[in-house]
Amino acid sequence: MDLNITSVIRRRRTIGAFRPNVPSSHEVESAIELARWAPNHKKTEPWRVYWLGPETARAVVDLNSSIIAAKKGEAEAEAKRKSWSAVPGWLAVTCIRSDDQFRHEEDYAACCCFVQNLSLGLWSNGIGTKWSTGDVTRHENFFELLGIDPNLERVVGLIWYGYPAVIPEQTRQPVDSFLRRLK
Ligand SMILES: Cc1cc2nc3c(=O)[nH]c(=O)nc-3n(C[C@H](O)[C@H](O)[C@H](O)COP(=O)(O)O)c2cc1C
Repeated sequence: MDLNITSVIRRRRTIGAFRPNVPSSHEVESAIELARWAPNHKKTEPWRVYWLGPETARAVVDLNSSIIAAKKGEAEAEAKRKSWSAVPGWLAVTCIRSDDQFRHEEDYAACCCFVQNLSLGLWSNGIGTKWSTGDVTRHENFFELLGIDPNLERVVGLIWYGYPAVIPEQTRQPVDSFLRRLK
């Protein structure tokens, strides 16, 4: 597809429903390669990417269902298990923690740019994503399943990817609602 940049930015949508076919590893690797060109202050390149295979993804689905079951009951947990089991591809992006609060903020900002680049890179090839920060991404077992030391890294997002089954409509506020023109 490879749309031009304005069109990719404008048309990218968060995707919750995917077709079953799994995008090729090559397409995902290309998007990860592109994403690392995100701006990052002091050249810290603070992002880390975990690419989940089916076994790890299944374990995350199970963990998420157990969290939902405890909070909202079995019926909701089963519904989530069904929808999460249909997700074709899984990445997790983390950010290396810093003891310096300002550096940590700047590094987190850089990681968010990384995730946006990743999403846009995938979208330009017809692959949708969902950036998720649900409870599961902060659960201690999630860190254990992915082999992440929570003292060293924080989770920026769980990134689902796949070919969209449905592309939702979205809106944004008019520019004048947030733009202040100064003299
Ligand atoms: C930091 C961050 C966390 C997000 N977490 C979630 C999430 O947990 N669940 C979800 O459905 N969407 C999540 N989203 C996606 C937003 O809901 C989505 O971007 C918003 O609805 C606008 O839709 P669009 O991305 O299609 O323009 C997240 C987005 C960001 C930037």
